[in-house]
This record gives sequence, structure tokens and C-alpha cells, in this order.
Amino acid sequence: MSQEARPKVYVTRQIEQTGLQLLHEVCQVDIWPGEMPVPREVLLREVAACDGLLALVTDKIDEELLQAAPKLRVVSNMAVGYDNIDVAACTRCGVLVGNTPGVLTDTTADLAFALLMATARRVVESAQYVKSGHWRTWGPLTLLGADVHHATLGIVGFGRIGREMAKRGRGFDMQLLYCGNHRDEQAERDFPGLTYLSKAELLRQSDFVSLHLPLNAHTRYYLGAAEFAIMKPTAIVINTARGPIIDPVALVQALQKGQLAGAGLDVTDPEPILLTDPLLQLPNVIILPHIGSASYTARAQMSLKAAQNLIAALRGEPMYSCLNPQL
Ligand code: GLV
Repeated sequence: MSQEARPKVYVTRQIEQTGLQLLHEVCQVDIWPGEMPVPREVLLREVAACDGLLALVTDKIDEELLQAAPKLRVVSNMAVGYDNIDVAACTRCGVLVGNTPGVLTDTTADLAFALLMATARRVVESAQYVKSGHWRTWGPLTLLGADVHHATLGIVGFGRIGREMAKRGRGFDMQLLYCGNHRDEQAERDFPGLTYLSKAELLRQSDFVSLHLPLNAHTRYYLGAAEFAIMKPTAIVINTARGPIIDPVALVQALQKGQLAGAGLDVTDPEPILLTDPLLQLPNVIILPHIGSASYTARAQMSLKAAQNLIAALRGEPMYSCLNPQL
């Protein structure tokens, strides 16, 4: 096919090659070359002539963008989460939306568990203690932390990543609790001892609360002052989902008041976190720059699945994962 006859797609950042190669075989591809997200005005200009858009969590796909993109047939998000996309508006405009579940599940659960362990055992603080020259002797009371093994892990949202988190918790002999929209009897058979509780009861009983929810109108500020007030003062919160699932002001207050022992956050509100944010001053908080799926393999698979979704949509074939299949 001549270059001109190929569908035109815009990729909003340099991504791993696997998917790009595939796109280059079938499409005319333009890529935003910058390290920072594509500026809004550039994106609005670029989508004007596009049939497909490969987007990232840093790109806002809304009514304004759709109005600027009369030819657009698909937005393929290289992420499992899609709170950056107004899916209803896409559906109204006849634009298919894809995402990449499945290929980052284990990788994200690995990071959630790494954060849990690092926060409990003060790994970052301890490494900093050594590097800054404070280590003078073995100390019987130095840098004590919380045990992970046999502790109670409350998993909020028992979807793909929540379930993988349970596997990791089981490996550490943790007592597993979960809450969410509904009871999952299959999960309870798969994880003997796994207990379904109300949100409040899970928060009361857990030593670690790990969030695995999508961000939407129901889950925004899912954890706020009222929730922190009923948690154990020794509890640690882990968030690898989306920053706004936690009310950031309430989190700071709870940590400062000692209502909570620590937090391990891979996501913040806003992102990136402001350097003036008091969370950055708290030694019992570990903050990572949204790297849950950042392994070589997961990112290669995400790039591939995002490209496959986009191409399938343009060809009118079934997509790997489509968020508005009614189209
Ligand atoms: C990353 O945050 C994702 O949703 O895949």
C-alpha cells in the first residue's frame, strides 16, 4: 500500500519498539518526539488528520479533542487504566477505545508488594541512613519496622491485580481480606482463608491496605479522613492504582496525627507530586513515579497490545480489549 493510502496514526510519545514496528508496517505513523507529554495545542493540531491515536495516561482525551479530530476512529490507550479518556464522549462520536489489561498484571502486583515490603521494613529510609553516613554500629533499636509475614493484608478491589497481590501475600503467610463491589466465590475457593468484608471492616482489621481500584466518580477519595480514622495506627496504605483514590490532604493529616503508620505510593494526586507537598517530608512515606508497569517485558507487551488494538479497530476486526464494544 502506498504511504498515502495507509491510515494515519499519531503516537503521543516514543514507546517501546515492538508496537511501533507493527504500526509502521500498516500505518503512516507520526510520533511526538519529546520526553514530556505532547503539548495540548500540538495534540489538537495533530489529531485533525488522524484515523487513529495511540495515547498514554498523560493525555487527556475529551470532547474538545474529539471535536478537533473529525476522522478519528480509534483511541488506543497504552495502559489498563483509562480515567484519562472520556469513554462516553468517544462512544457518542463513534470512536472506539482500547486499553491493555492482562499484560501488566503481575508486574504491577510485584511493584505493589515491593512497596509494601519497603514501607514496612523502612528500606528506603535505611539505605539513605547508610549513604548519609549515619550507620555507626548495629543497633538493637535502630530502624525497626513492621513484620510482613503473618500480617493481615486488606485488598481493596479483587480484580486481576488484586488477585495477584493475594498470591504474593499468600507466599508470605499473610491473612487475606478483600472488599469490593461483590463477593467472588471463585476467589475464595482459590485462596482458602480469603475473607470478604465490608470496606469499614476491612479497614479496621488490616495491617496493610492495598488499593487495586480503577479511578472513577465512585472511587475518587475512596480513602479520606473518615476511613483513616478507623484504621489501625500501625497500618500502612499501599496505592499503585491512581492517586486521587486517596484524599491527599487527609492522608498527610492522618500520618502526621499518627492515625496511620506509613504509606507506599506509586501514584499521587497530582502527578508528578509537587515538590512542596508535605508527604515528601514524611520519613514513613515512600513515593515512586508511577512505575507499576515499568518492566521491559510489560512495556513491550503494552506497546504491542496497544498497536494491535489500534490496527484491529482500523480494520474493523475484534480488538484485544475494547472499552466500548457496543460500537
Ligand atoms: C498505568 O497506570 C496503567 O493504567 O496501565
